[in-house]
Amino acid sequence: MISPLLFLIAVATTLSAAPEPVIGSITSGLHSILKNTHASKEYGYPTDLTRDLLPIPVHSHNDYWRDRPFYTGLSKGCTSTEADVWLYNGTLYVGHDESALTYERTLENLYINPILDVLDRQNPDSPFLTAPTKNGVWDTDTAQTLYFFIDVKTSGHETFKAVIKALEPLREKGYLTKLKGGKTVETGPVTIIGTGDTPLDMILPVMDRDYFFDAPLADLSESKYSRIDYRVSPIASTDFVKAVGKVAIDTEPVLREEQLKSLRAQISVARERGIGARYWNTPNWPVRQRNLVWRTLLQEGVGLLNADDLDAVTTFF
Ligand SMILES: *[C@@H]1O[C@H](CO)[C@@H](O)[C@H](O)[C@H]1NC(C)=O
Repeated sequence: MISPLLFLIAVATTLSAAPEPVIGSITSGLHSILKNTHASKEYGYPTDLTRDLLPIPVHSHNDYWRDRPFYTGLSKGCTSTEADVWLYNGTLYVGHDESALTYERTLENLYINPILDVLDRQNPDSPFLTAPTKNGVWDTDTAQTLYFFIDVKTSGHETFKAVIKALEPLREKGYLTKLKGGKTVETGPVTIIGTGDTPLDMILPVMDRDYFFDAPLADLSESKYSRIDYRVSPIASTDFVKAVGKVAIDTEPVLREEQLKSLRAQISVARERGIGARYWNTPNWPVRQRNLVWRTLLQEGVGLLNADDLDAVTTFF
């Protein structure tokens, strides 16, 4: 605790000293300009909602559990989000299990409408435009897509059919990544990936669609998945503990030789087909171990890191 007298002396000394250039310090005049220009018309622009946010290759795991689904991940720059969906009487509800569902927490309210709103802001109607835009959610990288994993919890075919229908507002505006004629992928602001009980037979044989499949990363070499490449599955995922193994230490190298070998083999099979890898069920604790595993996964070239603690993962980059 500094005494008031000492404080006054300190202030007086500072004021009487000859002005010297100081890095990171501002004059009262500049301070006043900064304060008064804030949010004024000349200093705002239509697509500034996500200004200053840098997208990071992170999947906001169990995103619908967060205090503010979708928006929290967006504010951290996470390029991937997730909703578990349950079909009841024609409506898709979002929640981890049945007891968590409410009439308000629908896929439409928590994800479709918020995503639509952000994209409408990033793609304003303006007399300055010489061509229509298809900007993504991040103002700093408008070409970056947002991966949206939709985890089907109730009967697969029926529920995924409802998902395809629920995407209509995003589809209508041209915001979805599309497969055209089974050949080319046209990346849009949002890439939908069905997971959980999403049936592969509703995706693999469809040549023109705007939804994709979360393939089993560790099983891509099996013959039944031989036809899967980025056009079916832009990201493939697996359980880290099952596919790579339990991590026992928190010193480098954090993976044993054979674990690293499995990891590299899986990532490389995926990469040959243009698929990004994602591992869930990576260690959360001890923090040092979690970070070493994240670092290893990034070094080995995963497509997305799976993270529960978004504050931690943003400071990690
Ligand atoms: C679905 O509809 C049935 C029949 O109207 C009703 O009994 C049931 O409570 C509804 N389910 C929900 C979750 O509202």
